[in-house]
Amino acid sequence: MQRQYLVAGNWKMNGSLETNRSLITGIASQRTHCANVEVLVCPPAVYLAQVRELIDGHPINLGGQNVADQDKTGAFTGETHAAMLREMGCTYVIVGHSERRALYGETDAVVAAKFGVAQVAGLVPVLCLGETLEERDRDQTETVLARQLGAVLDRVGVGAFARAVIAYEPVWAIGTGRTASAGQAQAAHAFIRGLLAARDAKIAGSVRILYGGSVKPDNAAELFSSQDVDGGLIGGASLKSGDFMAICAAAQAQ
Ligand code: 13P
Repeated sequence: MQRQYLVAGNWKMNGSLETNRSLITGIASQRTHCANVEVLVCPPAVYLAQVRELIDGHPINLGGQNVADQDKTGAFTGETHAAMLREMGCTYVIVGHSERRALYGETDAVVAAKFGVAQVAGLVPVLCLGETLEERDRDQTETVLARQLGAVLDRVGVGAFARAVIAYEPVWAIGTGRTASAGQAQAAHAFIRGLLAARDAKIAGSVRILYGGSVKPDNAAELFSSQDVDGGLIGGASLKSGDFMAICAAAQAQ
């Protein structure tokens, strides 16, 4: 199964009107060097309108970083409904990022609800999974991944993964400069794909599994060369257009 590489920038809580403009200008100007790679940017919600205009006419997708777990709009102060993201031009939304799980108390059940609501609104969820260092040291990586994915599978069913992306982001590799080795990433990705294959082999073969955690221009090619690694979810390096596009070029060269 040929899966198109996807390189996604998670800008996290970074950016300004001025830096967003130069970042998108830089990405757009180098976009032809990685024409076969799908490119996604996920700016902070308040900048979606600005970035939507900046990417107009360019093959760059827009995504949210978070979405409400509510299926109806209404009295949920501070939240953003999936239909609102869709209306603002988003086609993707990140759900279950480890920072949301760890800092904002998102449980597996909340993440599963967000996944479902996003899909109903026509968004493709980018479901983040990953273990902490303590969990890895205790040999619990697979248990954690199975629990996190299982909560979503139990809620929405394997069929939903025909329109979803998974990102394996080991917590210990996020923002630390300490990336997973290509072997560690491949093992986790193969495990995740195997969990899906146990329910539906065709969907398992088609779902894209991104790696995230200190992906940089100098390690992207090796990470992307693994069979089950279909691109990256990039944090820090997505804030510099040169670095981000070098990572996209590494995907293009596979
Ligand atoms: P870094 O690339 O900064 O490690 O962040 C990874 C990440 O969390 C992307 O969602």
